[in-house]
Amino acid sequence: MAYNAVDRWINTEKRNQVAILYVNERGEEKKLSYYELYREVNKMANALKNLGVKKGDAVSMYLPMCPELIISMLACTKIGAVHSVVYSGLSVGAFVERMNNAKVKILITADGTYRRGKIINLKKISDEAMLQCPTVETVIVVKHTDEIEMKELRGKELSYDKLIEGEPGECECEPMDAEDPLFLLYTSGSTGKPKGIVHTTGGYMVGVSTTLKNIFDIQPDDTYWCTADIGWITGHSYVIYGPLLLGTTTVVYEGAPDYPDPGAWWKIIEKYGITKFYTAPTAIRHLMRFGDKYTRIYNLSTLRILGTVGETINPEAWMWFYKNVGKEKTPIMDTWWQTETGMHLISPLPSAYLKPGSATKPVPGVFADVVDEKGNSVPLGTGGHLVITKPWPAMFRTLYEDEEKFKDVYWNDIPGVYKAGDMARKDKDGYFWIQGRSDDILKIAGHRIGTSEVESAFVSHPAVVEAAVIGKADPIKGEVIKAFLILKEGYQLKTKLIEELNAHVRYELGPVAVIGELEEVDSLPKTRSGKIMRRILRARDKGEDVGDTSTLEE
Ligand code: WTA
Repeated sequence: MAYNAVDRWINTEKRNQVAILYVNERGEEKKLSYYELYREVNKMANALKNLGVKKGDAVSMYLPMCPELIISMLACTKIGAVHSVVYSGLSVGAFVERMNNAKVKILITADGTYRRGKIINLKKISDEAMLQCPTVETVIVVKHTDEIEMKELRGKELSYDKLIEGEPGECECEPMDAEDPLFLLYTSGSTGKPKGIVHTTGGYMVGVSTTLKNIFDIQPDDTYWCTADIGWITGHSYVIYGPLLLGTTTVVYEGAPDYPDPGAWWKIIEKYGITKFYTAPTAIRHLMRFGDKYTRIYNLSTLRILGTVGETINPEAWMWFYKNVGKEKTPIMDTWWQTETGMHLISPLPSAYLKPGSATKPVPGVFADVVDEKGNSVPLGTGGHLVITKPWPAMFRTLYEDEEKFKDVYWNDIPGVYKAGDMARKDKDGYFWIQGRSDDILKIAGHRIGTSEVESAFVSHPAVVEAAVIGKADPIKGEVIKAFLILKEGYQLKTKLIEELNAHVRYELGPVAVIGELEEVDSLPKTRSGKIMRRILRARDKGEDVGDTSTLEE
């Protein structure tokens, strides 16, 4: 992977081309050519080797969108180590769980990150997490923000800059088998524990490069920008690996879409002449609120293809994006896929006939269907389970140390196919319309989070005895959290406790867990075996018929 994404370009005309174009909300930029990237990756790879990191070892990153994150990931790849990136928007509880599950020995973190004019102190979060991560032997700290003084590094802490100082800019690639693990990425499932998705080398490399090339029609003169955070799968596949494998220039932006003003993104598109722009429906809905004021100020005429990912795009947002950003000239690629799938599975190609709100059809070589519980295809126009009926190159190979769950969740439920966990329908033209998850996973601003993770966060607060969480529709974020809480005697759901609970869940999980509403209840609908029936809470919340309640304990 490292050879194909970096090394092979340095003896070609791409040697001096910008590989990574880092920009932040303060307007600062840093450009790394393929040659510079190559040298930096090699230095870090050598430094990691010196620390004893070997093929197959797990190394974690808790870093903002910054060149060092990409360099560290590629350095792992180069020596065959497995990177496990933790999204820097997750907080202590979620962070600790991911580190301990993978028994990580080395963590790479930073002093802070820029967000809406403030600096978020990542080191502090990491320090707190480290108190609960006994396997970590070394913490490498990147100095990224100026304002936060890196306090004296202590004990097992090392400075990134010092670490790579004097390291040679050459390093041999570790030979990898196609099936050797490339990375581990935790994602939410329907139980409390996050799942460690294991991706391997060969198929993933083929899958992400082919889909990016075909769907975004990557050309030598492209400046490509995917706004996803590297901490999620979209960042892995389509900010780093896909673009570098194709030798393109990939933009890495650290900041919010609306800071310092809602024209921030359009300004970047104008300044760098972005040709391909890939983002999330939630961001589009957010920016749509400002009308066409900001999209008119900037020249967006370099754009040739737009893309979306993470959730269904509602037709209004699609039209706004099409008219105001693409100026009715650029097609929109609505790409459906998952952390598990590694690559786009259902998506148009640029020449396709598009229907706003549909991800259209499986990409060439991918076979999908909509089926009932038993696996029989349902008639066109009818909703059912979205399944993939044949293997695809970038498919995940297992769940880290949980092969049983891997089989049960994805393969055994509906035999013979991959069960995606989404509901969908196919229309008469064979177009797929994704209807949302069939399990207890929420999509908050496109970020994936499990209801039970949120429930565990609530019950770890002393005031809460039991909690049940459902998603509530939100015009911008798609979904936010609605929690039903049984409180301990003596507690009341008043302003002070509400604030405390908000802060507590944020501390446990991070700002991804957006709470919309809390409701105090005396009991929760449960089956006789004690499973919370969230379906009933959802129906009741929407004022719909709660359906069959015969299996309820109460
Ligand atoms: C949802 C993100 C509709 C879906 C790459 C899926 C989508 C989950 C789309 C995976 C889309 C992703 N249209 N829904 N174009 N793309 N989803 O693992 O529910 O964070 O199962 O991967 O996002 O989320 P994940």
